[in-house]
Amino acid sequence: MKISNSPKETEGRVRLTGISLAAVAFAAGLAAACSGEAPERPVVVADVTDLMISVLEPAAETYWDGVGEILVEEGVHLIRPLTDDDWTALRNAAFILAESGNLLMMDGRVRDRGDWMAHSRDMVDAGRLALEAVDRRDADAVFDAGAEVYYACRDCHARYAAETLRPSDPRSTAPADSLGAVAEDTSTGDTTDDQGSR
Ligand code: HEC
Repeated sequence: MKISNSPKETEGRVRLTGISLAAVAFAAGLAAACSGEAPERPVVVADVTDLMISVLEPAAETYWDGVGEILVEEGVHLIRPLTDDDWTALRNAAFILAESGNLLMMDGRVRDRGDWMAHSRDMVDAGRLALEAVDRRDADAVFDAGAEVYYACRDCHARYAAETLRPSDPRSTAPADSLGAVAEDTSTGDTTDDQGSR
């Protein structure tokens, strides 16, 4: 049994090993570069503003519009999801809202690793709540989850986009036909976040 090599032999082998390792690493790098095997990374296509306007806002509107009340001359008209398609639309919107929270956490959009991540996480949670309400086909729960979604938007805006506090609080009791009344929403009077909104 040969336990040790002469210093010369060992040196030679170490050197050889070093060379082969470098060669292997180089070959692997070349192969990866040629065959596109480098690890794929997510690519940011929509910046935060795009994501707000094209993804979050439409999904939130769909969700908020799903359940509610409209004041009409004869009284109050209840809006409820009726058909399977109505519920599917709400379900799709809830998924978009939840996953948007994850999209906000991506490199290229994330603003910091603290509050931004927490607010994004709140968006995910609100979206999941919205989804659960839909899956129970519980219109009242959809209404309540809509409020949680709204708070997730509002709280992040209060911290990072004070000028874009969302004006149209879906929980507002103001008549929908009066923009001024909606902007002057007072239904969240327990906070000061809305001050200075347009
Ligand atoms: C994690 C933070 C965060 C969350 C959650 C969030 N937003 Fe935003 N939003 C922002 C920021 C930041 C801006 C300002 C744009 C910028 O700074 O790039 C913004 C801007 C907006 C704008 C204005 C875009 C423009 O410039 O015209 C709208 C509309 C909007 N958000 C809607 C929503 C809605 C609806 C929700 C919830 C469903 C929401 N946002 C949730 C961070 C957030």
